[in-house]
Amino acid sequence: MFTLAGKLKLPFLILIYLTNTFASAEPEDFRYYVCGDSGNYTRNSTYQTNLNTTLSTLHTTNSGFGFFNLSTGQGVDGVHSAALCQGDMDPDLCLTCLNDSIVKLPQVCPNQKEAVGYYGRCLLKYSNVDVIGNMEMEGSRILVNNQNAADTDRFVGALDVLMNKLKADAAAGDSLLKFATGNTTGSDFGNIYGLVQCTPDLSEMQCTDCVEKAHNEYVTSGYRGKIGGTVFKPMCRYSYDVQRFFNGSTMVIPAPPPPQVTPPVLSSPPPLTGMKILGETTRTLYGTL
Ligand SMILES: *[C@@H]1O[C@H](CO)[C@@H](O)[C@H](O)[C@H]1NC(C)=O
Ligand SMILES: *[C@@H]1O[C@H](CO)[C@@H](O)[C@H](O)[C@H]1NC(C)=O
Ligand SMILES: *[C@@H]1O[C@H](CO)[C@@H](O)[C@H](O)[C@H]1NC(C)=O
Ligand SMILES: *[C@@H]1O[C@H](CO)[C@@H](O)[C@H](O)[C@H]1NC(C)=O
Ligand SMILES: *[C@@H]1O[C@H](CO)[C@@H](O)[C@H](O)[C@H]1NC(C)=O
Ligand SMILES: *[C@@H]1O[C@H](CO)[C@@H](O)[C@H](O)[C@H]1NC(C)=O
Ligand SMILES: *[C@@H]1O[C@H](CO)[C@@H](O)[C@H](O)[C@H]1NC(C)=O
Repeated sequence: MFTLAGKLKLPFLILIYLTNTFASAEPEDFRYYVCGDSGNYTRNSTYQTNLNTTLSTLHTTNSGFGFFNLSTGQGVDGVHSAALCQGDMDPDLCLTCLNDSIVKLPQVCPNQKEAVGYYGRCLLKYSNVDVIGNMEMEGSRILVNNQNAADTDRFVGALDVLMNKLKADAAAGDSLLKFATGNTTGSDFGNIYGLVQCTPDLSEMQCTDCVEKAHNEYVTSGYRGKIGGTVFKPMCRYSYDVQRFFNGSTMVIPAPPPPQVTPPVLSSPPPLTGMKILGETTRTLYGTL
């Protein structure tokens, strides 16, 4: 199913973070990263020099909408890097997040030629192969709130309508920003909030493709019906939760019509005990970067 082959050989790897894991998470940890297996560089090599140059200059390349890209060097010593901040992110927080990532990613992937790191609201990747318009980089991370929606079918029905709309809106964005947020009713406890973003170098079709893959990875991992979750990929992000977790303005998506068989009415809404995940993420991003 996930048969992306090509020059980039980041291992296909999904790590799942459940609520329990998160409860003890140190927010300042740089937890979500994938070190590539396409080759290593040695200390003081031209590749390392180019990587250092690229990363220390990347922050000057802001497109104006939180996308950064820079390549340094040629041929086998060429280093290609890009970074993306969440589309509604405050520019200073974006730069702080990027500055932090460019220090930490080479620390956790100390000699790999390619790597991708996710800091919740910003991503950083570099490779020995061009990353612009390139869909081949692998390395997903999934976060999930392990609490189930009481009425899975109704929840997923509303969620999928919302996320399909956001996918289409994000993909239809321009070459500067492919970002969409929205909310809908239809969860057992009120609203569902969604966020979709692609790196803006992707075509509309590539963006759609990436978000669909993210969704498929999520569903095939068994998280259909969970009340919140995020899939980070090197080119896109798919996120939803029953709590609002973004700043951007949202469009309202009407909930789909109720199913023909009326589900049993809940006597009281389920407690929001499992809501730590995106809360933790939010704290990480707002608090410590
Ligand atoms: C690259 O370095 C990592 C350790 O940092 C090592 O595990 C891996 O085997 C190395 N890969 C190659 C191809 O030498
Ligand atoms: C790398 O370069 C630094 C500074 O020139 C030097 O001190 C260090 O010994 C070099 N390391 C290796 C492994 O060559
Ligand atoms: C690249 O940066 C790292 C981390 O700051 C440093 O240890 C290394 O010596 C630098 N290498 C080169 C070739 O500049
Ligand atoms: C979201 O908005 C709040 C309040 O204006 C602000 O403090 C925070 O930095 C914003 N977060 C991001 C990621 O931009
Ligand atoms: C990010 O790092 C650059 C270069 O070190 C620096 O000029 C800039 O002020 C930093 N920005 C933030 C928000 O930390
Ligand atoms: C990447 O950087 C180059 C050089 O600054 C720039 O011309 C190009 O528009 C950037 N690509 C994207 C997709 O932003
Ligand atoms: C849903 O989105 C609409 C439109 O932006 C907004 O007015 C409303 O406050 C949102 N609902 C919630 C609960 O945030």
